[in-house]
Amino acid sequence: MDELQNKTVLSIQDLSISFGGIKAVDHLSFDVDEGEIFGLIGPNGAGKTTVFNCITQFYKPNHGSIRFKSKQGKTIELTTHKVHEVIGYGLVRTFQNVELIKELSILDNVLIGGHIDFKTSFIGQAFNTKKSKAEEALYRQEAIEILTFLGIADRKDWLVYGQPYGILKKIELARSLMCKPKLIILDEPAAGLNDLETLDFAKVIRQIRQRYNCSILLVEHDMRLVMDVCDRICAINFGKFLAVGTPGQIQKSPTVQAAYLGTENPA
Ligand SMILES: Nc1ncnc2c1ncn2[C@@H]1O[C@H](COP(=O)(O)OP(=O)(O)OP(=O)(O)O)[C@@H](O)[C@H]1O
Ligand SMILES: [Mg+2]
Repeated sequence: MDELQNKTVLSIQDLSISFGGIKAVDHLSFDVDEGEIFGLIGPNGAGKTTVFNCITQFYKPNHGSIRFKSKQGKTIELTTHKVHEVIGYGLVRTFQNVELIKELSILDNVLIGGHIDFKTSFIGQAFNTKKSKAEEALYRQEAIEILTFLGIADRKDWLVYGQPYGILKKIELARSLMCKPKLIILDEPAAGLNDLETLDFAKVIRQIRQRYNCSILLVEHDMRLVMDVCDRICAINFGKFLAVGTPGQIQKSPTVQAAYLGTENPA
């Protein structure tokens, strides 16, 4: 396996996966750079979530390679790893439908994200030793700092149940930041957000990149967010590559326009 070049954090090469007779992803390639906010767009059913699931190893592709430069600085072929291993390399995800534990407080939900890094043994935690208590305090402090950064620390002790959608998305982001990510991948973060919340979310994404020095891969159906926030965008349809470029270039691309207007042919 070739090492990734300096600025590349994720490299997808010739990725394919089929479900029955449907080629959900068809020989797709693109690269994401370090510190980049990158968008993957396409109409409904284009294959975006499938690509996402291949990156996180939730699906195993039939063909192709997905290389990632881990936070330990090593190039890793993700397709040879398991779902739970990927997070330890610094690749974290959020879900298309927010997945939080509604019966727990906002702070507790965020702390769950930090547990991936816990140094104390399970036995230590179970007996609540001095070391594990100190570690817990450190994680609490970190979680509160993240919630403050996202502007929702005043709600930390509230239950997740009943929180507005915009807040739920921020809690999910806070949880992913606890894992000290190198790359955060977000599946349709703007879905369910109103215009004002979408604008606020775009601001938060830029701030996260700056403060946490990470890359962000957005998988989006909604054009507003991607055009506003992404450095570069890759457009796909019927699982196939259409174009890659700046938001301006993508907006002007006749192939992309045809795909969104539904005049494209799958063949
Ligand atoms: N687990 C699965 N089993 C069978 N077919 C699937 C599965 N997952 C995806 N597909 C099919 O693969 C194609 C791509 O679906 P995918 O969900 O990746 O699209 P998408 O771009 O995320 O769409 P949306 O904008 O609606 O979220 C579709 O034809 C879909 O029906
Ligand atoms: Mg999808």
